[in-house]
Amino acid sequence: MKRFSEDIESILVSEEEIDDIIEKTARQIDEDYKDKNLLLLCILKGSVMFFGDLLKKITVPAEIDFMRVSSYHGTESSGTVRILLDVDHGKLKDCDVLIIEDIIDSGRTLTYLCEYLKFKGAKSVRTCTLLDKPDRRLTDFVPDYTGVMIPDEFVVGYGLDYDEKYRTLPYIGILKPEVYKK
Ligand code: IMP
Ligand code: MG
Repeated sequence: MKRFSEDIESILVSEEEIDDIIEKTARQIDEDYKDKNLLLLCILKGSVMFFGDLLKKITVPAEIDFMRVSSYHGTESSGTVRILLDVDHGKLKDCDVLIIEDIIDSGRTLTYLCEYLKFKGAKSVRTCTLLDKPDRRLTDFVPDYTGVMIPDEFVVGYGLDYDEKYRTLPYIGILKPEVYKK
């Protein structure tokens, strides 16, 4: 049996670094959302681990919901964002939505989602990403909370996938190029 870890060339963000980012981000969110009606919105599937770990560290009252969107095929963004699972629209008008995302690449997904949620009536919409690849940006999108900026490398682990694999790794790693150039 071949383990996912054997396809990793190097670890870019370790478990310890991820823990520190989560602690720091949770403290900022606690401070900023003291007097708000926070709805934490997980963007499936990539954000699942970041979302779960962040939830445990946030102490202000918050509700949670989920969306699933798709814009990726293999290692390239398709450019169009499709909603595969939608949030409960009924609640949005009372909620200060904080979108929790795994990674920002072109910026298309979050640009689209912010517009969509405002259009659907959310009281406010802000964004929090674990990883940001600013070199790849094709829009002028700037997140409100950024865990760590990373170079233009395709990364997997801690929820992020390549063709649905590697999500279960506990760290962010760079995939060996031969894995996706096959
Ligand atoms: P954007 O719309 O181009 O900003 O892409 C955002 C989405 O693309 C993320 O939510 C991820 O699902 C996916 N993505 C972007 N870069 C990577 C990567 O390096 N590894 C895995 N998924 C990625
Ligand atoms: Mg994603």
